[in-house]
Amino acid sequence: MTNFTYSQAALDRLQKSDADIFNALMHEEVRQSEGIELIPSENYCFPEVYALLGSVFNNKYSEGYPGRRYYGGQENTDTIENLARDRAKAVFRAEHANVQPLSGCAMNEAVDFALLNPGDSVLGMDLSHGGHLSHGHPLTNMAKIFKYTRYKTEIPSGAIDLEKVRAIAQECKPKMIICGHSSYPREYDYAGFRKIADEVGAYLMADVSHLGGLIAANALKNPLDFGFDVMTTTTHKSLRGPRGGMILCKKELGSKIDKSVFPGMQGGPHMHQIAAIATTLKLVQSDSYKAYAKQVLANAQSLAKALLDGGAHLVTGGTENHLIVINTATGFGITGDVAETALDKAGITLNKNVIPDDPNPPMKPSGIRFGTPAATARGFGEPEMKQLATIMLQVLRAPADAALLAKLREETRSVCKRFPVPGLEGTAQPKAAAA
Ligand SMILES: Cc1ncc(COP(=O)(O)O)c(C=O)c1O
Repeated sequence: MTNFTYSQAALDRLQKSDADIFNALMHEEVRQSEGIELIPSENYCFPEVYALLGSVFNNKYSEGYPGRRYYGGQENTDTIENLARDRAKAVFRAEHANVQPLSGCAMNEAVDFALLNPGDSVLGMDLSHGGHLSHGHPLTNMAKIFKYTRYKTEIPSGAIDLEKVRAIAQECKPKMIICGHSSYPREYDYAGFRKIADEVGAYLMADVSHLGGLIAANALKNPLDFGFDVMTTTTHKSLRGPRGGMILCKKELGSKIDKSVFPGMQGGPHMHQIAAIATTLKLVQSDSYKAYAKQVLANAQSLAKALLDGGAHLVTGGTENHLIVINTATGFGITGDVAETALDKAGITLNKNVIPDDPNPPMKPSGIRFGTPAATARGFGEPEMKQLATIMLQVLRAPADAALLAKLREETRSVCKRFPVPGLEGTAQPKAAAA
């Protein structure tokens, strides 16, 4: 049982009143401690976040915004939301911030409904090239309301040909252009996109959900410095905060965005989550967080190089951020789902992923996607990245060798023991509950 993440009294109550969930929690602590988390959208939150998510702010209804709420008793909730908004503006050099979106898809939907009318055209990145579902994938509800067109990246470099984007924009006349991705290892030419948006009279939005923390630490470029109208980010990925979403925008759009979030889409904001976002935005201003962000990028370079040297086929040939996509079909003769399962058995968690214009279906795609934010948060450096690459390469070359996978799992476990999960340090080895 852990010492730091939850209050002991609350845990004791939970164990008595719901042993099934208590046991699942204990087993999850063990899973997270003993395995290496490489899913690039995941992270270990700051330990302070656990304290706030498990706090009495969970109990409070605060519909509205600071100073203008529909319920009484807001002196403390106004304090935390004002701090969260002010810190968000300072960290991201934004004129306006809304910290209420419950999560990433909700924040993007709120932007669409704030700036667009039903039937309006939107231009975003193709999903198989790295774009996100919430940028108008045909299976989403948003695709029933707005008309999404997609730009692609060049294969194999991953570059975005701005002349092609310009031609598509002139054709589909978007009211908004989206830069942003969930599996694109390259940097965007934000200035180039600003020019195109100006030429066709479109709003320009960046969804930097994956990169939010790296931008906060000035380790990557900030789209708002290039005149973007809106920028959204989740708060639970590289930022290391609670699950949630944030919308940053130009002052003149602030009122539209706020109305779209509440009352447009949501009711009571999750004040425990907003308190944790406020603290996260204080912590990311520290020197140690800035060093962390740099290390995330250095670790990604190291991991990419070691895998390339070992014969892996990296989509786009390398990485300029925290994430890497490899084509396991061409590199190792296995689909991403097979690679994901085998790596899981060796204690390495990542996800199967489509590659640009993937000939295979999403549940059996040609590749895998992984990244360094979580491993770096527990202290992994470049030597560990090389060790990790060696383990991964052995798994990918022999995914059906059960004895090898079991041996590699032990190796993974012993590396992990040296780097406790932040917040679980008090118990080098959290105890599994009785089955
Ligand atoms: C770029 C991007 N936008 C939005 C989201 C959606 O976030 P959520 O899962 O919190 O709804 C994600 C999640 O992975 C993402 O990568």
